[in-house]
Amino acid sequence: MEITKVAVIGAGTMGNGIAHVFAQSGFKVNLIDVNQGSLDRALATIDKNLSRMVAKDKISESDKDAALSRIQTFTDIKSGADSVQLVVEAVNENFDLKTKIFKELAEVTSEETILASNTSSISITKLAGVVKERSEKVIGMHFFNPVPVMKLVEVVNGLDTSDETYEVIENLSKKLGKTPVYVNDAPGFVSNRVLMPMINEAIFCVYEGVATPENVDEVMKLGMAHPMGPLRLADFIGLDVCLDILRVLYDGFADPKYRPCPLLVKMVDAGKLGDKTGEGFYKY
Ligand code: 3HC
Repeated sequence: MEITKVAVIGAGTMGNGIAHVFAQSGFKVNLIDVNQGSLDRALATIDKNLSRMVAKDKISESDKDAALSRIQTFTDIKSGADSVQLVVEAVNENFDLKTKIFKELAEVTSEETILASNTSSISITKLAGVVKERSEKVIGMHFFNPVPVMKLVEVVNGLDTSDETYEVIENLSKKLGKTPVYVNDAPGFVSNRVLMPMINEAIFCVYEGVATPENVDEVMKLGMAHPMGPLRLADFIGLDVCLDILRVLYDGFADPKYRPCPLLVKMVDAGKLGDKTGEGFYKY
């Protein structure tokens, strides 16, 4: 199957990054979000990130204009998704919301359309279960923030995902300049099963007074050559997103080793979500 047109659902950090890389790689993109303000902000972010690439001579001004011209925005799923060959869902990490969207997608898209989720931890098999008649077309396509920079796409098959669907997504990821890596369907896949316990443990270090956020991050940057310390990274990802993923791990494995640190829960309750709210472990 030749993919030329995709829909991306959700215009947040991941959604706008995903729309950016598809458009830059020559695909037509329908970016869908219920909130027009989010769509406008997403287009402004994509424009800014493409301009940054122009300034660094990675792409030309006309490449940038061409990429932007390939993106259209929509506030309803039907008009944005009914004529595409692939949908990448990138809404919040909320199973009920994803269920609602997948059910609608199964109704409005053609039987051939692949339904991919950028979920960072929710089981692909469980998501496919809500659209049983289409489950062989459901797959995990997990991108990393900042999407235009990070090379990885973690590709996850559900129990029923067909080999053909997998091959299309593997080849497509390469066309986007990414490296697809296959992992089996399990809570948090590989990326977040390894990353989130590290971030949670870094938060416990602050909670127990072992070190300040700055010093925890210095240890990991200078001692382990991480580009960002775990607490800076947690702010960058969003503390609410980190908490959601830890809860999926905690529930999915029924194992207390994934218990979210009480300090993380408190910060999310206080609305200190990191970069996006101007304050997390650091102030922005
Ligand atoms: N769009 C386009 N280009 C961007 C960009 C963006 N949004 N953000 C950064 N860049 C480019 C810069 O232009 C720069 O390009 P250059 O190498 O040609 O000069 C390059 O990326 C590096 O950026 P900076 O020089 O501004 O800053 P840094 O060197 O500090 O790098 C970083 C920034 C790439 C974010 C780096 O700190 C990093 O790799 N951090 C770790 C990020 C990470 O771990 N992401 C995964 C999060 S987990 C996730 O997403 C999964 C989810 O499920 C939770």
